[in-house]
Amino acid sequence: MSQADWESEFLKYKSSPEFAMLNSRMTLDEFKSIYWMEWIHRIWGRAIGITFLLPAIYFTARGRMTKSLTLKVWGIAGLIGFQGFLGWWMVKSGLKDDLFAPGSTPRVSQYRLTAHLGAAFVVYLSMLWNGLTTLRDNRFQTHLTHQEAQASLQAFRNPALRTFKLATLSLFALTFVTAMSGALVAGLDAGLIYNEFPYMGLGLTPPKSELFDTFYSHVPANDKGEHTDLVWRNMFENPSLVQLDHRLMATTTFTAVMALFAWSRSSAHLQKILPANAKRAVHGVFGFAWLQVILGISTLLYLVPVPLASAHQAGALALLSWTMVLGSRVHMSRASIKTLEYFAKHGRLGTRNVAIHQNVAVAEAAQKVQKALGAKVRQPQSANASQRVVGQSGVTPAAV
Ligand code: HEM
Repeated sequence: MSQADWESEFLKYKSSPEFAMLNSRMTLDEFKSIYWMEWIHRIWGRAIGITFLLPAIYFTARGRMTKSLTLKVWGIAGLIGFQGFLGWWMVKSGLKDDLFAPGSTPRVSQYRLTAHLGAAFVVYLSMLWNGLTTLRDNRFQTHLTHQEAQASLQAFRNPALRTFKLATLSLFALTFVTAMSGALVAGLDAGLIYNEFPYMGLGLTPPKSELFDTFYSHVPANDKGEHTDLVWRNMFENPSLVQLDHRLMATTTFTAVMALFAWSRSSAHLQKILPANAKRAVHGVFGFAWLQVILGISTLLYLVPVPLASAHQAGALALLSWTMVLGSRVHMSRASIKTLEYFAKHGRLGTRNVAIHQNVAVAEAAQKVQKALGAKVRQPQSANASQRVVGQSGVTPAAV
C-alpha cells in the first residue's frame, strides 16, 4: 500500500472507539503492525475456505465419497462460511458508537468472541472426527483379520466399555465448556485481574458482593429488591466472576481427567477390554491436561503475555483433540459395527479386501492404458463403488 493508502486506513481506525479510548497515542507504524495481524488472519481464513472447498468439489464430482461423508464434508464447508460471518459480526460489535460512552470498554463483545472461537473449535473438531473415523473404517476394510474383527466386536459390545465411552464423551463436553468459559475471560480481559493462584485477593474467591454486583444488572429491582438478571449477567459480564467460573470449570475438568486416568489404570476389567491405542490416548489426555493447567496458571501469573495466552489457547485445542482421539478409539459407529460383523461372520475378509484394493488399482491402470489405445472398457465408477459391490454380493476380487 502507498503512504496515502496507509494514512487513509489509519484515519478510519482513528474514528473507532478503540483508538479514541485506548490507543490515542498510537503511531502509524504501530497501526501497521495491528493491521497486518488482522489482515493475515482474514487472508488465512479465506485460504482455509478455499483449501477445503476445492477438494470437496473434486471428490463430490468424482463420487469418491460415501453419501454420508459427502453430507458431513458439505456441513463443514457450511460451517466454515458461517465462521466468516461470525468474524464479521464480532468485529462489528467493536465499532458501535455506544462504546464511546463513559464507563464502557472499547472492545468486541465477549459473547461474539466466544461464538467465533467456539465455531472455530467446532469446525476443526468436526474435521478431526471425520478424519479419524474415515481412517479407522478404511483400516478395518483393508487390514483387519477375522480374529481381530471378532475380538473388536466383543470389546465394543462390552457394557463396561459403554460406560467408559460415556465418561469420555462427558469429559469432552466438559472440556469444551471450560474452553468457552476461557474465551469469556479473554473477551473481558478478565485475566488482567487477580494475577495469583489459588487465591483471588484475600480468599480463594472474591467477596460475594463483588461477584454478584448490581452494577451489571440491566433490570430494575423488583418489590423484593431483587434483580432478576443478577446471577447470569454477572456470570457472563463481571470479570471477577467470569475468572472464578473459569478457574472452577478448569479445576473440575482437570479432576475429571485425573479420575478417568486413575479409573483406566486401576480397573483390571478396563485394562483387559480397553484397546491398546485407547490406553495410549488416555495417557495423552492426562499429559495435555497437566500442560493446559500449567499454561493457564502461568498466563495468569505473568499478566497474559501474548505468547503464553496463545499457547494456552492452543493447549485447549490439543486437550480437546486428544479427548476426541480417545473417543474415536472407544466409539464405533453403527456402520463400522456392521462392517465388523460382516468380517467376523465371513472370515478372512480383511486380507481379501487388501486384494480388492489392489485389484481396483490394477483395473484403473488397465483402463488408462486401454483408453490410451482407444479401446472401450466397462469400469466401476469409483474404488468405493467397486468395493461396495464386492463386499455386498460376494463377487470375487478377480471379477472386478
Ligand atoms: C482444562 C483446563 C483449561 C482449559 C481447557 C482452558 C481453556 C482456555 C481457553 C480456550 C481460553 C481462551 C483463550 C483465548 O481465546 O485467547 C482460556 C483463557 C484463559 N485461561 Fe484457561 N483453560 C484451562 C485452565 C486454566 C487455568 C487453570 C487457568 C488459571 C487459573 C486459566 C487461565 C486463563 C486465563 C487467564 C485466560 C485468558 C487469556 C487471555 O486473555 O487471552 N485457564 N482458557
